[in-house]
Amino acid sequence: MQCDEARLIFFSPTKSTLRIAEAVAAGMGCGNVSRVDLTFPEGAGEPEADGGVAVIGVPVYAGRVPGIAAERLRARVRGGGRPAVLVAVYGNRAFEDTLIELRDLAVELGFKPVAAGAFIGEHSFSSAALPVAPGRPDDADLQKARDFGAQVAAKLAGMASAADAPELAVPGNVPYRDGCAPNGLAPATKADLCTLCGECARLCPVQVIRVTETAVETDGDGCIRCSACIRACPTQARVWDAPRIHEINVFLNANHGARKEPETFL
Ligand SMILES: Cc1cc2nc3c(=O)[nH]c(=O)nc-3n(C[C@H](O)[C@H](O)[C@H](O)COP(=O)(O)O)c2cc1C
Repeated sequence: MQCDEARLIFFSPTKSTLRIAEAVAAGMGCGNVSRVDLTFPEGAGEPEADGGVAVIGVPVYAGRVPGIAAERLRARVRGGGRPAVLVAVYGNRAFEDTLIELRDLAVELGFKPVAAGAFIGEHSFSSAALPVAPGRPDDADLQKARDFGAQVAAKLAGMASAADAPELAVPGNVPYRDGCAPNGLAPATKADLCTLCGECARLCPVQVIRVTETAVETDGDGCIRCSACIRACPTQARVWDAPRIHEINVFLNANHGARKEPETFL
């Protein structure tokens, strides 16, 4: 099989998954790269079923595919027998059942998974005071993602059609571990630093932030804790001040500081 076109299908609030998926596609050397961005809620209509080789990328949330990403994949994407490369990006703790869940989901949607990789991105809760995988994916990670893409292209070149591919083996357990759901926690806004610019609301994947003339209001019941609003805030006014998130971050910083490396499955 030739790789004439790659279709990046991704959910990536803080963009590390997107950066890895782009590097994988670059390594595959497909002439044409198109995008289906599931990070935001728009896109009602017929599920998307075109394109060449799919590169499906999700972050790891509690060792699982984020629920909202699975929901949007089911609503907006169909495989139609196309080959799929699966990408999970995690914050240097563990990816656990994410790849096996993503493989099962891809098969359910009609894709033929041919390769998978788990890569590392800076943890969503990482801060300057308590960094977790800061700066990742870095140049070495992106090079490994490109190398993986080249291996995928070589594997595809050796196949007459995606239908020939045996079931892809990836680590993980079924039934999957418990995932995480909104739990009422959400970032706070420091009123003295906030300029009410609205960037946080614009970039919220679940649209739970509302900017009024005087304040930023967040519906914590819907927040997925992705931290996109914190990364995007131009004045550092969005912060995690929830004690539970601080505890998690202290734990991650103390126990998951040792650098992990990408793992690939072909
Ligand atoms: C709610 C939540 C749960 C997470 N769970 C895990 C996890 O189980 N293991 C891990 O290593 N990283 C975990 N992370 C970190 C993300 O997987 C990591 O930051 C990833 O790079 C985010 O991808 P993105 O930049 O594409 O949004 C979690 C992040 C969030 C927001």
